[in-house]
Amino acid sequence: MRFDLDQVDTAIAYKLLAATVMPRPIAWIVTKGTDGLNAAPYSFFNVMGSAPPTVAIGLLADPERGFKDTAKNILDSGEFVVNLVPERLVQAMNTTAVNAPRSTDELALAGLATTPSTHIAPPRITDSPVAFECRSLSNVVTGPQQTVVIGRVLAVHIDDAYILDAEKAYIDTPKLDLVARSFGSDYVRSRDTFALDRPFWGQGAFSQK
Ligand SMILES: Cc1cc2nc3c(=O)[nH]c(=O)nc-3n(C[C@H](O)[C@H](O)[C@H](O)COP(=O)(O)O)c2cc1C
Repeated sequence: MRFDLDQVDTAIAYKLLAATVMPRPIAWIVTKGTDGLNAAPYSFFNVMGSAPPTVAIGLLADPERGFKDTAKNILDSGEFVVNLVPERLVQAMNTTAVNAPRSTDELALAGLATTPSTHIAPPRITDSPVAFECRSLSNVVTGPQQTVVIGRVLAVHIDDAYILDAEKAYIDTPKLDLVARSFGSDYVRSRDTFALDRPFWGQGAFSQK
């Protein structure tokens, strides 16, 4: 079956894309606006490059508020912190997704402590094992009140408990126990992994006979 997306409702387009592009990592974003701090999860998120290190986030329009608070704050200040979400923090993460009025500090609502950032005004979530301090490199408004933010990662904070070798940047990824979004209210854990050796030209199946 084919769905031509310019002929379906936007809610259908959302379902087709979000139900198939999964799992999606979750950026738990902290921003600072004129009315205080804001936190919310965003799963249209990934790493986009390393030189310079970049991440991208997709922020949809809110049917009532237009630009979501996170989008508004990033468009205004260019600053945001991406915190990653281990399973033990999913309830708090979910609380911060509430469609609260603009001036609500969802961090206070979820009882989350914060730690000041080094380069930017918004703080990071203290309990999160990994946090990226980011400054917006480019914002592409892709539709009415919908935007993609490309952020340059200025600093990475990782809890010492997950560092295996700081010099070599070996991280205990399984121990982080990060979760990702599936569809609707479903999430996936990152424990069910398997290994696949990368092929190299001239070796194994690609060696010269
Ligand atoms: C796990 C999860 C992932 C989400 N991902 C996105 C997303 O990628 N883009 C988006 O616009 N909203 C996403 N949302 C919804 C926002 O978190 C929600 O609209 C929130 O109220 C926005 O808050 P804000 O206005 O304070 O930024 C997600 C919600 C959850 C629970």
